[in-house]
Amino acid sequence: MQIRSETSVDIARVHALNVDAFNQSAEADLVDMLRASDDAIISLVAEDDGDIVGHVMFSKLVTPPRCLALAPVAVAPDHQKEGIGTALIKRGLTMAKASRWRAVFVLGDPAYYTRFGFRVEDAAKFETPYPKEYMMARELMPGALKAMDGALTYAAPFSAFD
Ligand SMILES: CC(C)(COP(=O)(O)OP(=O)(O)OC[C@H]1O[C@@H](n2cnc3c(N)ncnc32)[C@H](O)[C@@H]1OP(=O)(O)O)[C@@H](O)C(=O)NCCC(=O)NCCS
Repeated sequence: MQIRSETSVDIARVHALNVDAFNQSAEADLVDMLRASDDAIISLVAEDDGDIVGHVMFSKLVTPPRCLALAPVAVAPDHQKEGIGTALIKRGLTMAKASRWRAVFVLGDPAYYTRFGFRVEDAAKFETPYPKEYMMARELMPGALKAMDGALTYAAPFSAFD
């Protein structure tokens, strides 16, 4: 299994994978919209024997500046619980840090995302329309979150997703 950046030839298969993992097309459409709006910063695939079995996207937030949103992450149903989601998220965080993004936010189940260093407490001071108990943050630069406040604004395609 190989983790690598998505290329243009992967796009249709990434769409199909997201439909398969979420059992609906909303997340797959969101991925396509984030790519089209140039908000997608990191888009990684997990490839196994020529098949795309996992995908993760990190997109830039409108505010706070130089911060990313992790969403969505998808693993093919017959490959879940094999560590693929973990590998995709860890690689994405490493790449984001190397490119000097300041922090990453994620909306999801803390039971899953806290293992990557995301914390509900670290996102609590930011204004968001999303439920605070599921909003988490992880800084990539020491002290970055302390220096930020205000609204947490996702890229425009997320409003269509709501
Ligand atoms: C969530 C998802 C990406 C995890 O990927 P994965 O490759 O199956 O996960 P990993 O193998 O890296 O990690 C498995 C661990 O995560 C846990 N886990 C998986 N999905 C979880 C969830 N929704 N909530 C809490 N824990 C979850 C598993 O129980 C397992 O825990 P363990 O290590 O304590 O046994 C994958 O299950 C998936 O695509 N689900 C459908 C789409 C989805 O819900 N995406 C996330 C929202 S954006």
